[in-house]
Amino acid sequence: MSQQFPEPVEPLDFPDEPLPLVELRTEIGHPARMYDYYLGGKDNFPADRELAEQALAVEPRTRLIAQVNRAFLQRAVRAMAASGIRQFLDIGTGIPTAGNTHEVAQEVAPDARVVYVDNDPIVLVHARALMSSTQEGRTTVIQEDLRSPEAIVNSAEVRELIDFDQPLGLILVAVLHFITDADGPHEIVERLKEALPSGSQMALSHLTADFAPPGHAERAVAPYQRATAPLIPRSRPAVERFFTGLELQEPGLVVAPLWRPDGELPPDAEILGIYAGLGVKP
Ligand SMILES: C[S@@+](CC[C@H](N)C(=O)[O-])C[C@H]1O[C@@H](n2cnc3c(N)ncnc32)[C@H](O)[C@@H]1O
Repeated sequence: MSQQFPEPVEPLDFPDEPLPLVELRTEIGHPARMYDYYLGGKDNFPADRELAEQALAVEPRTRLIAQVNRAFLQRAVRAMAASGIRQFLDIGTGIPTAGNTHEVAQEVAPDARVVYVDNDPIVLVHARALMSSTQEGRTTVIQEDLRSPEAIVNSAEVRELIDFDQPLGLILVAVLHFITDADGPHEIVERLKEALPSGSQMALSHLTADFAPPGHAERAVAPYQRATAPLIPRSRPAVERFFTGLELQEPGLVVAPLWRPDGELPPDAEILGIYAGLGVKP
């Protein structure tokens, strides 16, 4: 009786280049994962939770601040899409959670295109898995650092989706407070604004210590000194300066829950320490 051998199998086609390894550095707290923890997400590790709990122990409203910030992002994106913006550059994306920029934008305008930019590799891992493009709208996620605005604006991946001759929505929500003064946050935003064509819009939010008793904010942000990026609250004039050259839209620069609220306000909304605004480039 002749023996039956299986058909020879073609070797798997592995690429010649090794696949890039993603260095998640789970032993150290990351702002994206701490924010995910505040929002009730699951994409965080013990080191992130430990630092987040330390911040919460000083400022129990940190979770609420994360929630009102997220809600501002969604209202601002909806407003931009409703006013005709069809392409968005969202820098400091965060780990995907409910109501991401592309979902909100594509609800209003199914053909909206979104490029997400974040410097934390974990954001990319999750974002690439979850943020699929729709039939009409397209979504891309790239790893880049806000401190290199030219690299973002000139990136081929960004330019594949974003036409810098057409108005676009620049989103800098809860990200600039991770840029130290030494890294020139205002100069970075100037570079980005220069790249925007007329009619473009910028949505921005930023933590502040303006409503906190002396020393409180310093204690609340101290745990971030042990994370991958420190957290720097800024005063109203410093946040307003980011909008230089843009026309601030109604209601101006206000704390996030007071920016065009569409529901019930949380208690003490007017002293929640995060400013938010939307500006249009004339
Ligand atoms: C607090 S989360 C905000 C997420 C989202 N924008 C929102 O408001 O819901 C801040 C995000 O900014 C990212 N980030 C911090 N510093 C950055 C930098 N220098 N360049 C790019 N992204 C940065 C973090 O990795 C994190 O995902």
